[in-house]
Amino acid sequence: MDKTIVRFGVIGCGLMGKEFASAAARWCHLTDVGFEPRITAVCDANPAAAEWFVRQVPSVSKTTTDYRELLADPDIDAIYCAVPHNLHADLYIDIIRAGKHLLGEKPFGIDREANARIVAEMAKRPDVLVRCSSEFPFFPGAYRIGQWVREGRFGRIIEVEAGFWHSSDLDPLKPINWKRRIATNGEYGCMGDLGMHVLHLPLRFGWQPDSVRALLQKTVDQRPDGKGGMVPCETWDNAILACDVKREDQRFPMVLSTKRIAPGHANTWFIRINGTELSAEYSTKNPKQIRSLPYKPGGEQAWHTLDVPYQTAYSTITGGIFEFGFSDSILQMWAAFCDELVNRDGMSQPLYCATPEEAAASHELFTAALESDRTGQTVRIGGRDSLEAAARSAGI
Ligand SMILES: NC(=O)c1ccc[n+]([C@@H]2O[C@H](COP(=O)([O-])OP(=O)(O)OC[C@H]3O[C@@H](n4cnc5c(N)ncnc54)[C@H](O)[C@@H]3O)[C@@H](O)[C@H]2O)c1
Repeated sequence: MDKTIVRFGVIGCGLMGKEFASAAARWCHLTDVGFEPRITAVCDANPAAAEWFVRQVPSVSKTTTDYRELLADPDIDAIYCAVPHNLHADLYIDIIRAGKHLLGEKPFGIDREANARIVAEMAKRPDVLVRCSSEFPFFPGAYRIGQWVREGRFGRIIEVEAGFWHSSDLDPLKPINWKRRIATNGEYGCMGDLGMHVLHLPLRFGWQPDSVRALLQKTVDQRPDGKGGMVPCETWDNAILACDVKREDQRFPMVLSTKRIAPGHANTWFIRINGTELSAEYSTKNPKQIRSLPYKPGGEQAWHTLDVPYQTAYSTITGGIFEFGFSDSILQMWAAFCDELVNRDGMSQPLYCATPEEAAASHELFTAALESDRTGQTVRIGGRDSLEAAARSAGI
């Protein structure tokens, strides 16, 4: 089968830029896909960062420190942009304006205003596909929970809890970087870094919070500057958001947490849903296992633990008994982006990448959370109607 080649430029050759290159390099892992990304050009403000691509990615024929060169290149169809948050709005807008399809990184703008500017630009270019990176829903256990929600298996929702927890910031000697400064990471702190990952599935399920009471926490307030001194560590370390979700026919609490200081957790993404007919939980802490408790009135209440087979959104060469990991989820997310880019409404499976509307809803929540923590009050959240309209038009 001849594959449709999607020619990519990468802006930002750091941690995530390299993850994309690695996923593109093992595209042969996927079976039955009629599309393939090819990274032809890369850009980083730091020329040394692009050198890795020159050494490792044979398809790269151009490197530059000026992203506009990529946008002017007619041989580039799409851009992956993975740069610090303060640059999202300006770069994403220029990318969309240039007519390049975009997979951008979260939080999709450093704050709500920046995000609104991106969304306004998108409205002028409906021909351009714009999506936001979020890979955890592609873990087979998380994917299966998505299937169960689509099938209406949970009954009435009793409560939901979802989170993303790290712990490397427990070390007070870890030097400062752009992710711990408000100017580059944003006032949201850990919410901007981790929150879209937590919200992707709840928002896709239509569970946009109606209000939030937030508890935000700073534990380490200064860090080594790498030059022998100490500098302020300005951003929120941990956030707990108690949300009230109101749907037409039901209302339930949803607790979302994003933590950079969660002792013992390296990269734990989880979701728990309790319903009247089914409860289920999945965590990347035990990436192979999904727990579920089906319930019928008067019946027994017993948790089942299943070793989830390696059954992925896009089929692969890997046998069902083997383990799925972080880099596999990145590969699956990229397959979803390329599938949607090439086939639009005719994608081969239902989980598409996070949308800018979902990113906008996350900004509504995080902005309300900042106000809630500042005032000590519960804060109502705007934007719900627009998200519901977007979900309806996407057939969810
Ligand atoms: N999806 C995920 O799991 C995940 C994980 C980590 C980070 N991220 C997101 O990815 C983005 C980048 O994070 P990262 O961890 O890769 O950061 P990073 O610091 O490793 O890389 C960012 C790169 O951008 C480059 N850069 C800065 N200004 C630039 C400019 N004007 N033009 C071109 N390049 C420029 C830097 O030199 C650096 O190489 C952020 O939005 C972050 O939130 C996503």
